[in-house]
Amino acid sequence: MSLWGPLKPIEAPPADAAHKLHRTLGWPHLVALGVGAIVGTGILTLIGTGAGLAGPGVILSFLIAGLVCAAAALAYAELATMIPQSGSAYTYSYVAVGETIAWIVGWSLILEYSVVCSTVAVGWSGYFTGFMDGMGWTIPKALANGPELGGVINLPAVAIIAVVAGLLLVGTRESATLNTILVALKIAALAMFVAVALPHFDAANFHPFFPNGVLPHAGPDPLHPDKLIKLGVLPAASIIFFAFYGFDAVSTAAEEAKDPGRDMTIGIVGSMAACVVIYMVIAATAIGAAPVASFAQSAEPLALILRSFGSTTAAKVFGAVAIIALPTVILAFLFGQTRIFFVMARDRLLPEGLGRVHPKSGVPVAVTIGTAIIVAAIAAFLPLAEIAALANAGTLCAFVAVCVSMVVLRKRDPGRKRVFRVPAASLVAVIGVVGCLLLFATLPVGTQVRFFVWNAIGLVVYFAYARSRSAAARP
Ligand code: ALA
Repeated sequence: MSLWGPLKPIEAPPADAAHKLHRTLGWPHLVALGVGAIVGTGILTLIGTGAGLAGPGVILSFLIAGLVCAAAALAYAELATMIPQSGSAYTYSYVAVGETIAWIVGWSLILEYSVVCSTVAVGWSGYFTGFMDGMGWTIPKALANGPELGGVINLPAVAIIAVVAGLLLVGTRESATLNTILVALKIAALAMFVAVALPHFDAANFHPFFPNGVLPHAGPDPLHPDKLIKLGVLPAASIIFFAFYGFDAVSTAAEEAKDPGRDMTIGIVGSMAACVVIYMVIAATAIGAAPVASFAQSAEPLALILRSFGSTTAAKVFGAVAIIALPTVILAFLFGQTRIFFVMARDRLLPEGLGRVHPKSGVPVAVTIGTAIIVAAIAAFLPLAEIAALANAGTLCAFVAVCVSMVVLRKRDPGRKRVFRVPAASLVAVIGVVGCLLLFATLPVGTQVRFFVWNAIGLVVYFAYARSRSAAARP
């Protein structure tokens, strides 16, 4: 028991067969799960949004967001290899700090994972609709947009979520293998972008480097000039942050890794490191190859840059690969989401029926279908720009909790075996916590308010329902 409610033991209690996940994933699957979750709408689309807020200085935004995520990734790796249980940041806070904080983190993760799936599905729908249009099959606007954009329902977004959920229902290993193939395809497309764009590199495109400064200041929204928004390198970093996370989805698979110690370290640190390198190369190439103003407002900035040199075939191939490979992000987050629900249900903080797995496939069927329906409903009707920022808010909350949990457990249980020890742990934790708080402070005010309202609702559910049922409170 702590000030923040009961604590969970580090060792998972033996689960009965109906609540046990199967160990089928090796480290290549976990690295692919990580890269598959990380490389998505952030680098493909939000690089333009970020460049609009920061100018060429968006490269610094990438560095700042990458540094904060790297600090969090190290803390995740230490905890994921030390606490061999599913549930990611939720479980670590439960072990280290206490149930109330764990609930807030779990509730924030539910927000993060759902909203990321919905956002990427809507982004995918944009690419898909454009591609079909190019083939001469125009999807009516009313069926390809939510009400905010003058449509009725975004059917392609709903359809892609249904397909990905179906894949997860078939079984974890099968979908992880397909995910690995799609990730390779996505990396190949990014490599093609660099190969085609690099010969057009012009250092003059980097001047002026900080047209909007570094610290946030109010200025006209590049999309709606009558509206004021936060401009500068830091506000761009708080949006670009979306591009970097996803490695945390790897840690939700802790109970499904064949060799959790080794595989989780390689999966989390490896996927994060790979993506930092990939992003720096892409961002520098994109900005060097075309003036920021030419692609900042685009819904498909990298394809637009390719078209600007007349490389239309390369642009088409790039778009097609995005359509095929973007769903890996949805797959990883939908997977992570179902595992968070699964663990919270197993802890009796959510209804236990949500935690039951299928005896043959080992998949939590009810929760996978339920999550897919909610995520599809959000994607069907809501606009994506603001919900992406909301996903960032939920993630920043989880990252703070993980950094704090690492420090708390170092103090409380210093002798316990850690397969991976974060070097200079206190410094890394400070960079993680301060960086996350700074990025949260620079998010749009509306996003911050929505995040607090979501958690206020969560706390009502906790005190009215979950706290009295909790398994940890009644061992
Ligand atoms: N990092 C993921 C993306 O950029 C969420 O799509």
